[in-house]
Amino acid sequence: MQTKSKDLKKLSWEEFYNTPLDKKLSYFAENNHLFDCLFSQQFNRKNIDHIFSVATKIRTIAKSKEGLDWLQTLLSHKRAMLYFIQPSTRTFLSFQSACYILGLKVSEIRSTSTSSEAKGESLEDTVRTFSSYTDLLIMRHFEEGFAEKTAWLLNKTKRPVPIINGGSGKDQHPTQALLDLYTLNWAFNDKGGIDNKTIAMVGDLKRGRTVRSLTYLLKNYKNIKFVYISPDYLRIGEDIKHFLKKHRMKYIETDDMKKSIQDADAIYMTRIQDEYDINHESKDIDYSKFHLKKEHLKLIKKNAIIMHPLPRRDEIEHSIDNDPRAMYWRQERNGMWIRAALIAHIFRIEGSILYY
Ligand code: NCD
Repeated sequence: MQTKSKDLKKLSWEEFYNTPLDKKLSYFAENNHLFDCLFSQQFNRKNIDHIFSVATKIRTIAKSKEGLDWLQTLLSHKRAMLYFIQPSTRTFLSFQSACYILGLKVSEIRSTSTSSEAKGESLEDTVRTFSSYTDLLIMRHFEEGFAEKTAWLLNKTKRPVPIINGGSGKDQHPTQALLDLYTLNWAFNDKGGIDNKTIAMVGDLKRGRTVRSLTYLLKNYKNIKFVYISPDYLRIGEDIKHFLKKHRMKYIETDDMKKSIQDADAIYMTRIQDEYDINHESKDIDYSKFHLKKEHLKLIKKNAIIMHPLPRRDEIEHSIDNDPRAMYWRQERNGMWIRAALIAHIFRIEGSILYY
């Protein structure tokens, strides 16, 4: 049972933050339609499939100048702000490009040193200021809960603007999960879809937000088996394991990459997230056992796909890029289309796109 939005509005931030997610999702929706996009748990099969069709349609329309010119009229009366105070290449550029595709005007803040937070302005005032100038706020922040707090604050004002989470600390990255899922869906299109597949996730599963968000999103598919491969210190979080058990989803944990990638249909590689180290605690981990090398290609399934949210360090040898199973550059490009589709969905313009 979801609590009514108006009751949720009365809660203090601490009370709201500690409310279980399933009880507060209605606060981020408008008449059952996605308003803020903060967590993977906001998606179900219906809105996932819908956003996928919109993404594919936008991609087709944008192939011609006439089509792209038309798309650019759809939200030409709207402004978006990209508030990215944690480093980003792909998420930032693909959101910016997605906004351009739909005609939104974009402004950006990429460091608190250039905004008035440097003068001691509070979060409340900073965020309220954003909403005076923009119709959509896309944000990446190193603090878990910051995007949620922003949405909590703005939804109580007279001028709420939708918030999209482009990465919230170690917690979630729901739009990366959407593009990962869109890529999986494309790759398994003629292989029975995503249901019944074995997904191996390799690397820093403790602090990698993409792994967490993709795990949550895959709950919408049947009989998925997760193989979590990591050094002992970087194992998947207890909260994720609790989620998997609650939803009766199958998983195993191992540190034997060579053996366990052999049965996988998708191998999702990740980087060590040492920016979250407090005392260089991941410095001494031998990460080389969790690198995908050319010699592994003959061990994995002929039809398996290799994914990575990027950026990579040495997790995937560069020579693997030319293998037809390597999907990470496609993932990157898919990010732009899926983000355009998500924005179209939030602004409820997808009807005209699908009928184009
Ligand atoms: C990921 C992120 O920021 O979490 N990158 C991305 O958005 N494509 C993964 C990472 O930084 O390792």
